[in-house]
Amino acid sequence: MIELRHIRKEYEIATPLKDVNVTINKGDVISIIGPSGTGKSTLIRMINLLEYPTSGQIFVDGEEITAKGYDINKVRKKIGMVFQSFNLFSHLTIIENIMKPQIDLLKRERQEAYDKAINLLEIVGLKDKALQYPDQLSGGQKQRIAICRTLAMDPDVILLDEPTSALDPTMVNEVQEVINDLAKRGHTMMIVTHEMNFARKISNRVFYMDQGGVYEDGTPEEIFDNPKRERTKVFIRQLKVLAIDINSKDFDFMSVISQINDYGLKNGISPRMYNRIYSVFEEMSKEIILPVLDNPKLKVIIEYSRKDNEVMMNMRYNGKHFNPSDSDNELSMRIIQNSIKTITHTTIEDGDYTNNVTITFKNED
Ligand SMILES: Nc1ncnc2c1ncn2[C@@H]1O[C@H](COP(=O)(O)OP(=O)(O)OP(=O)(O)O)[C@@H](O)[C@H]1O
Ligand SMILES: [Mg+2]
Repeated sequence: MIELRHIRKEYEIATPLKDVNVTINKGDVISIIGPSGTGKSTLIRMINLLEYPTSGQIFVDGEEITAKGYDINKVRKKIGMVFQSFNLFSHLTIIENIMKPQIDLLKRERQEAYDKAINLLEIVGLKDKALQYPDQLSGGQKQRIAICRTLAMDPDVILLDEPTSALDPTMVNEVQEVINDLAKRGHTMMIVTHEMNFARKISNRVFYMDQGGVYEDGTPEEIFDNPKRERTKVFIRQLKVLAIDINSKDFDFMSVISQINDYGLKNGISPRMYNRIYSVFEEMSKEIILPVLDNPKLKVIIEYSRKDNEVMMNMRYNGKHFNPSDSDNELSMRIIQNSIKTITHTTIEDGDYTNNVTITFKNED
């Protein structure tokens, strides 16, 4: 239903798209992944003409939308977009936000637009917010409203550019659930995302973007488990590492938690997984290890393997040899055991560090 032929996009200092040739079929749910700056946003913005290609053609249902004189509103009615930053009108109530584009663009009667909006609010579980203003809602709720506003236009295709990346981690799930629901209902969608588990779960196709185009196009199994081309392999296999040094019992806990958050979001670690990571980090550092150290030196290394969807946490610390599993803090150990697969302690001689604990996390959802 959408065909891109020889799409090229040049900016003054970058040419993110050199020659893109892909066909999107009705019912496809396509996740677009790839390193930063490879033109993922540029590509989907072009599909509803928020950007024009420097050269090449885009066809929607056989009609060339990049042709001279083509009416932009026509493509905007067919193809809806959900942005990272919601873009709701703050001076309008939630219900009006969802009604307005239907009235302006589709010329619907107020009653019809209202009924449609209420119906959608019900689906995303926010009917009781209809008369509130955007500022009264959480980020996750705002994004669900933004999705309703797009859906209210009955688009044939929905484009989403990192729909959860501006959200607090506790709100990622509720929005992902709504998107997953849409995918299951057979909507045609293209989603730019850094969240690999999510991409794997919802899509039937994955575009890996690199080197000026869609470098590899395949099923989630092909791209995540068996990438064929070199750069895809590197991207998928890449082991992502976060290292944190703690040198005091009253270290800045919130700052570390926010580093773990950022790391999780950037690398597509599922919200459930990073909840495990930080609960284990909190119990291990604050309750178990730091209390037994006189002059704490603690190094925490978190590694995530995209390929195996596995997270490992390594903690090195100084002081006498101490195995956390021998801790008499049973409550903390129980909380930790809930989230992890294995924990092993070894003694080491590595500069300042004398203890090494390796933890692997449960990864089922
Ligand atoms: N309006 C613009 N003017 C000039 N250069 C731009 C513009 N939009 C994007 N670019 C450049 O084009 C390249 C691709 O940008 P794009 O935003 O599409 O990347 P992306 O894959 O979405 O990256 P990210 O994962 O960081 O969102 C970048 O080098 C960017 O600086
Ligand atoms: Mg982008």
